Amino acid sequence: MGGAYSAAKEIKPRCPGLIDGVGGKVRGVAAASYMAIGSEWAQRAGRILTGSLSDLNPFRTDEPYLSVDIGSSSAKLLEVVGDAGQLRVLNAVVLPTPASAIQNNMVSESGAVAEVIRAARESQGMRARRVIAAVPGPAVIIKRMTLPAQSASELENTILFEAGNFIPEDLENVNLDYQVTDYLDDGKRIEVVLVAAKKEIVASYAETIRAAGLMPAVIDVDYFALENMFEINYDMAADRAIALVNIGARYSSINILKGGRSTFTGDVPVGGRDISEALMRDLGLSMEEAELAKTGEVKAGVGREQAEAVIGSAASALIEEIHHALSFFWTAATDETIDAIYVSGGVGRMAGLAQLLSDRVGAPVEVANPFARVAVENKLNTPAFRAHAAEYAVAVGLATRRPNDK
Ligand SMILES: Nc1ncnc2c1ncn2[C@@H]1O[C@H](COP(=O)(O)OP(=O)(O)OP(=O)(O)O)[C@@H](O)[C@H]1O
Ligand SMILES: [Mg+2]
Repeated sequence: MGGAYSAAKEIKPRCPGLIDGVGGKVRGVAAASYMAIGSEWAQRAGRILTGSLSDLNPFRTDEPYLSVDIGSSSAKLLEVVGDAGQLRVLNAVVLPTPASAIQNNMVSESGAVAEVIRAARESQGMRARRVIAAVPGPAVIIKRMTLPAQSASELENTILFEAGNFIPEDLENVNLDYQVTDYLDDGKRIEVVLVAAKKEIVASYAETIRAAGLMPAVIDVDYFALENMFEINYDMAADRAIALVNIGARYSSINILKGGRSTFTGDVPVGGRDISEALMRDLGLSMEEAELAKTGEVKAGVGREQAEAVIGSAASALIEEIHHALSFFWTAATDETIDAIYVSGGVGRMAGLAQLLSDRVGAPVEVANPFARVAVENKLNTPAFRAHAAEYAVAVGLATRRPNDK
């Protein structure tokens, strides 16, 4: 389920002009875990992997958490304290994951990835055990609906009914979650975002975290993490449309915000791996050599210009796909332009990429700084850390989540 564009087909543009501000802030929607569908729904809707009762204690904001972004090329770990408004990063590390770690949007090599997480955590002396993690955007189906206002129990039934209609899976096999994101027409109608992910996918991430000796506390979705990262670091003018584009190794996530609220989410199955594969195919490089070539270290015997030409054309193809998706998700549906784009992910920090995207889309593109307004320990404040900052975009967004924070 999921996959490129699949979420977008269901998405209807919202009308931010009608927002009256009732209902509080939207902090993303968690891909609910192990949520029983049926009688327990009322108690458990909106809950995610809740570890213990201590999560409910509001005085424990000093408790450190680990945010763990498990990618197909690397795992990013942050150890943080404080809530979203006053986040402080104690430790940060990126370690490579095995090449076939993620298959079909799930962790296929749980043991090996758990070892990477364990090693990463220990290498930094991280002490936190509670983990906030994410499933990949392509693993979820997101549906936005406008419904008549109704009581919580009616809404649960409506949601189950709607979910049965659009989820191409037995609901037994699916984790569902929803959030009321807006109140329209003086509260007569509500806007709801419904998120569904296959149980086995959510479980593969949760089990990997447990196998690393840690406790999964929240499982979110990378799209929403990006949004939360942006929210804590940047100001958002009411009428601006901002596209957040996280370009990883395997796929790129897109979340388009209008007036600070998420309007479209989707993914494109392109990323840095496509550039590596072009280098391997056209120049006969190994995977490792291709990775080095992308950072300017070209192996002896291969011309630098040659490598640059291959990288340039693969990067252009990647940009073309992202441009196409942005048009599909946004311009075609609204006739409005995108006012600015923030890129992140490993490829987001690639030299010249922001300019390429800006030229293609015709909007200013900036490399997101997930730590723009986030305090980091002095020891982390090195040129190398700053150079890699964009890779932590999802991890920083995850770090803002806490159990039961909806
Ligand atoms: N300076 C750079 N120039 C070009 N590419 C880079 C640079 N730094 C990292 N990359 C590429 O970024 C990709 C890794 O990005 P990231 O860590 O965001 O991916 P991931 O989260 O592991 O993957 P995914 O989320 O798609 O499963 C790799 O393909 C890597 O080669
Ligand atoms: Mg990633």
